[in-house]
Amino acid sequence: MAEDNPTGERFFAHGKVILLGEHAVVYGTPALGGTLSLGATVSLEPGSGRLVVPAWQMVVSSDYDGNELPLARAYRAIRRALGLSPSGFDLKLEFSLPAGAGLGSSAAFAVAIGRALIRAHALPGGEALVAAAALASENEIHGKSSGFDQALALSPSGFYLFSHAAGCLRLTQRAPLSLVIADSGRTRDTSSAVDQVASLLRDRSDEVRARIAAIAVIVDKGRAALEARAYGELGAAMQENQRHLSALEVSAPEIDQLCALANDQGAIGAKLTGGGRGGCVIMLAPGREQALQRAVENSGFRAFVAEVGG
Ligand code: MEV
Repeated sequence: MAEDNPTGERFFAHGKVILLGEHAVVYGTPALGGTLSLGATVSLEPGSGRLVVPAWQMVVSSDYDGNELPLARAYRAIRRALGLSPSGFDLKLEFSLPAGAGLGSSAAFAVAIGRALIRAHALPGGEALVAAAALASENEIHGKSSGFDQALALSPSGFYLFSHAAGCLRLTQRAPLSLVIADSGRTRDTSSAVDQVASLLRDRSDEVRARIAAIAVIVDKGRAALEARAYGELGAAMQENQRHLSALEVSAPEIDQLCALANDQGAIGAKLTGGGRGGCVIMLAPGREQALQRAVENSGFRAFVAEVGG
């Protein structure tokens, strides 16, 4: 029957912005983030279980096992987690956000692929099974992770406070937050950045522990500021968080350049978002977003204005 045939159906999962608390969250402290309306869309087409990414001219067969591309390894990990053998659908993937830039593209990819495969193969288990598939994918790509990225990709639009102990709590704040998001042009490298912090924690234990504790306080202040729409305080929290991230050596010259540019142009907060060492910088400049976007673009970087949490 036509209604039982999922050919042509589309499955979406959104990206995210971590406002405060990345890296420290890996060690159990809370982080604050919001969803983006951009993300990953997967459509089902007749085929043999291949992953097709037209924008990257990339095709991965379902029994593929040699290539080191992270997305291809993640696709295999998802199929393995779902216990699937090659079958009658190809999955066409499109991103509406910059991929590999700290905006949750890999978690959005995993959730959208998981939803599509579960529908294509009529697997029971719903979103819990999607979460298991996403976990397998994120572990394959990033190694040690807090779980925040996939929790956000699985959650409805909004702002969330996440910690390992308490999970993903939705904030009462409903109005979206307008941010300028600037791409450093350097691919973020979450797994090496997470390893970097782990190695600093071994070498400079007291200092790094103190920074993680300080970031937890910043997240707390930032959450209160977001809920009160006290944007000056939220911006100050972002500035302070960026100083700690820089000291944890997960920034990059382009990120520092973008933060300085944002501050020169009157932004009240600017920091890296996500894994760092590349990826995107988020900039808070209420009412001045378009002018700031132009200034960033005039300096040779790509930028867009996004409504986070809406
Ligand atoms: C990556 O988006 C955020 C990190 O904190 C890693 C994680 O939470 O798994 C760097």
